[in-house]
Amino acid sequence: MFFERVEGGEKALLVHIDFYAQHEREDADEFVELAISAGLTITSMIKATGNSPNARSLIGSGKLAEIGAMVEAEGADVVLFNHVLTPSQERNIEAELECRVQDRTGLILDIFSKRARTSEGQLQVELAQLEFVSTRLIRGWTHLERQKGGIGMRGPGETQLETDRRLISKRIHTIQKRLDKVKKQRIQGRRSRKRSELPTVAIVGYTNAGKSTLFNQITNSDVYVADQLFATLDPTLRRIDIPHLGPVVLADTVGFIRHLPHRLVQAFKATLEETVEADLLIHVVDAAADERDDNIEQVRQVLEEIGAGNHKQILVYNKIDLLAHVDAKIDYDEENGKPERVWMSARNSDGLDELYQAIGEALGVEQWIGKIILPPSYGQLRAILFEQSAIVDECWDEKGNQVLSLSMSKNGIRKLEKELSIDWHELVLEGDPMIEIKEPWMRDD
Ligand code: GTP
Repeated sequence: MFFERVEGGEKALLVHIDFYAQHEREDADEFVELAISAGLTITSMIKATGNSPNARSLIGSGKLAEIGAMVEAEGADVVLFNHVLTPSQERNIEAELECRVQDRTGLILDIFSKRARTSEGQLQVELAQLEFVSTRLIRGWTHLERQKGGIGMRGPGETQLETDRRLISKRIHTIQKRLDKVKKQRIQGRRSRKRSELPTVAIVGYTNAGKSTLFNQITNSDVYVADQLFATLDPTLRRIDIPHLGPVVLADTVGFIRHLPHRLVQAFKATLEETVEADLLIHVVDAAADERDDNIEQVRQVLEEIGAGNHKQILVYNKIDLLAHVDAKIDYDEENGKPERVWMSARNSDGLDELYQAIGEALGVEQWIGKIILPPSYGQLRAILFEQSAIVDECWDEKGNQVLSLSMSKNGIRKLEKELSIDWHELVLEGDPMIEIKEPWMRDD
C-alpha cells in the first residue's frame, strides 16, 4: 500500500508501546518533541505496554483495531510509531489501518532533511532517505519520478518495481557524484578559513537544548559582523567578533538524539562536519531538563564517536530563567583554572558576556590590557579597534593626544601591525610593549 505525503501540518496519531522485554526503551515525551520538530500536528498519543514486539505487526490485532478506530475518528494523515519497524511490519500495519505509517527512523530522517542546511548534509540525508525507502519498496516509486521531474523512464520489458529500483540506484549514483564535488568545495572553503587563521567555535548539544536560540542571539547581537563569504558558503557558519577577543567563526549544528538508528549515523555526522575541526565546542545543555545529566552523556558519546571527544569544551547550562536562585556565572575547573561551565539564559541573553569571556579564556587567547597614545593620523586604527570592541575607555592627555584603554587579543594586535604597517610598541603608554625578541639566527639582517 502506498500513501502520498501531505504537505505541511499533517495530523499525526502517536503510538508509544513500552515492551518489558526491551532494554533500550524510548522516551514518550521526547517522541512528542520530535513530532513537533517535524512540523506535525499531534491529534493524540496512544500509550500501551506489552511483553515483546510481535514480528508481524509489532502489536496485536486488538490494539491495531483500536488505533484504526482513532485514525478514523480523528482524521489522522499518518500514524507514528516510537519504534523502529521492519519494512514488512510497516506494510502490514498500513494495510490494517488503511493509513500511512511512519516509524522512528523515518521521523528522524524527516527532521534531518529539514535541518541539514549544508549541501553536503542535505545530500547525505537524501542518501539515507533513499536507502531507507528502498528497503520499503514494494510498489510505486512514482512520487519520486514526479518530484524529481522524471529522472528516468521505464525500459522495455521492465516491471514497475524494476523501474523503481533503477530510478533509485540512478539517483543514489547522482547524489554520490555530487557529494564528491561538494566535499572538495568544503575542503577548499576550510583551507581559505585556515589561511585567515580564524578559530572555529562549534555549538553542539542535545535536541531542544537551545542551540539555535543561542546562535541567533549571538549572530543578531552587535557582535555579529556580516560576512558574505561565510553566509553564502554555508548558512550555519557566521563570522563574529567577540568583545576583547576578535573574530571567530561560529558554527551551528543539528541536535543530538538518543538511540540514533545505525543507518542514520552517517547522515547525522555529515551535519556535524564543522564540529570535528572546531577549536572549541560549546556544549549547550537544557539545565532545567530532568534528563540533564543523561543528555550530557549522550552528547559526549557521540562526540567521542566522531573523533571530537578530546576537543576543548565549555558546557553551557542554558535556561537558568527556569531555575530558582541561579545567576549567570562561570564555573572554573579547579585543577587547570579553565572555564568549565557557563550558566546562562539564551532566551534573554543573560550571561552572554560571561560566555564571551569564557570563550576567550578557553581558546587560551593572550589578552593585551593597557593604554596607547593615538597620533591624530591614526583615525583608521581607532575605527578598527572600536569595531572590534577593544576600547574600554578613551580620554585626552594634556598635549591633546587621544589615549585609549584597550583590552584585546595579542594575536589581534600582531595582525593590525602587519595590516596597517605600524609598530605597536611606539604607541604603548602602559602595558606590554609587545616587541618580538628574535633569536640572532631569525634576524633579517
Ligand atoms: P534542536 O534544533 O532540536 O536541536 O533544538 P535547539 O537546541 O536548537 O533548541 P532551540 O534553540 O530550538 O530551543 C528549544 C526550545 O527551548 C525553544 O522553545 C526555545 O524557545 C527554548 N529556549 C531556548 N533557550 C531558552 C532559555 O534560555 N530559556 C527558556 N525558558 N527557554 C529557552
